[in-house]
Amino acid sequence: MLDLKIDRADPQPLHEQIAAGVRRLILTRAIPTGAHLPPTRQLARALRVNRGTVVQAYARLRAEGLVEGQVGRGTVVRPATKAWRPVRHSLSWPTILGPIDQFVQNAVEVAGLFSGRANIAFAAGFPSSELYPMDRIAAITAELLETRGPELLSDGAVQGAPELRRVVAEELRCMPSEVFVVSGSQQGLSLLARVFLSPGDVVLAELPTYLGALQVFHETGARVVGLPLDAEGMDPQMLEDVLSRMPVRLLYTVPSFQNPTGASLSFERRQAVLEIASRYGVPVIEDDPYGLLAYDAEPPSTLWSLDEGGHVIYVGTCSKTLFPGLRVGWVAAPEPVVDRLLPVKLRTDLFTSPLSQAVVAAFRGSPAFGRHLDELRRVYRVRRDAMVAGLRRHCAGIDFSVPGGGYFVWARLTEGMAARDLLGRAVEEGVSLLTGDLFYPEGRGEEAIRLTFASETPERILEGTKRLGRALHRTARQEREARGPKRAPGAIV
Ligand SMILES: Cc1ncc(COP(=O)(O)O)c(C=O)c1O
Repeated sequence: MLDLKIDRADPQPLHEQIAAGVRRLILTRAIPTGAHLPPTRQLARALRVNRGTVVQAYARLRAEGLVEGQVGRGTVVRPATKAWRPVRHSLSWPTILGPIDQFVQNAVEVAGLFSGRANIAFAAGFPSSELYPMDRIAAITAELLETRGPELLSDGAVQGAPELRRVVAEELRCMPSEVFVVSGSQQGLSLLARVFLSPGDVVLAELPTYLGALQVFHETGARVVGLPLDAEGMDPQMLEDVLSRMPVRLLYTVPSFQNPTGASLSFERRQAVLEIASRYGVPVIEDDPYGLLAYDAEPPSTLWSLDEGGHVIYVGTCSKTLFPGLRVGWVAAPEPVVDRLLPVKLRTDLFTSPLSQAVVAAFRGSPAFGRHLDELRRVYRVRRDAMVAGLRRHCAGIDFSVPGGGYFVWARLTEGMAARDLLGRAVEEGVSLLTGDLFYPEGRGEEAIRLTFASETPERILEGTKRLGRALHRTARQEREARGPKRAPGAIV
């Protein structure tokens, strides 16, 4: 076995320690060219780590070109190239960089574990690439480059391209001057957090909520106070209770087909939330990536459209209805907020790609977008139904409600199972998922999981639920064994 040591007290993640150790052995020729690395399962056992940790370490070495993996042949050390640098005494980066923020690290590790692995993907919240309208996008891009290439490859307006702001303003029935284009709605949330929040400020949010929002709030030093939610979204009474007890800087909500629960705020509650927020003078950030993806009824009315007092800041994106790769999103807000966003955007990335914006404006502003949305709704609805049917058929030991749209099913594990334990078994079965704790600021959600149904075909979704069922069964059995044998009533011990 390899001469490798890992230190669990070291802040450097285990997979990085393993990759660093194997890299050193390869570069010092302790493992010669053409040699096989130990199978991941074997090395994981020897180091007493999860197999996924070794898989991640090998993936890193593959990406660096040090090893190659061939099906049936294992992982083999590649011949040396000039790109290989001699080993030097390297700096201790973990010491220089200081402790890792565990909250962020959890998410990074989970995401890393699943990247590039051949499994059934229930983890990431990305659209299915075979549904991209490729022909139209290719034609639009070619024409834009042909007719306006130099302009679209040059610098652009900080607030965004007028053509895209016009398209968005028309959809949201507002003025183009109230639309601010961002490089994805994640950037919109980050800019808003930086404009509004200082350390110690309170942000109210449904809990669980979108991981990326929790991270940007956390980064500013704000405190997230959670509002529990049910199938109809947050409870307005709770909102009022909290607002009457403490000063609150912002209310953040994903009211339609929420990430991670799939819940949608009912119409009555939308009105009540707006009324309460306006009475207490609290701005509302409405994050709405999924609202148009409604499968059982018309898309719900946005808070933005119901708001009469100018309290709502709307965040939209084309990541879920077109594709995430162009990085185009928008914030719609009263002009004083737009004015404050400008300098923050400028010092973040100057402006959003003019070519991306022009492509999105041309597609989203054309009748083809409506047809594309219809197609997405049809396809995702079938996938949602496949996941629901598969979970009901194969997955004893979970509880969930059926989302009316969006991407996600949020499931609660019964029988005292921990999601992290289930995750290990699920990965072994070749299924990815996200554990519920990622969607809380701290220490909750251990008994829940988020499953994405948008990224896989119905056949693979059914297969995935079957595997998940096996993983659940194994986790429950282990849990029972760990608790010890159940005593028969009246048994003498
Ligand atoms: C609720 C929510 N907001 C924002 C985002 C970020 O999307 P993007 O930055 O790709 O627009 C996501 C993506 O998963 C999301 O689920």
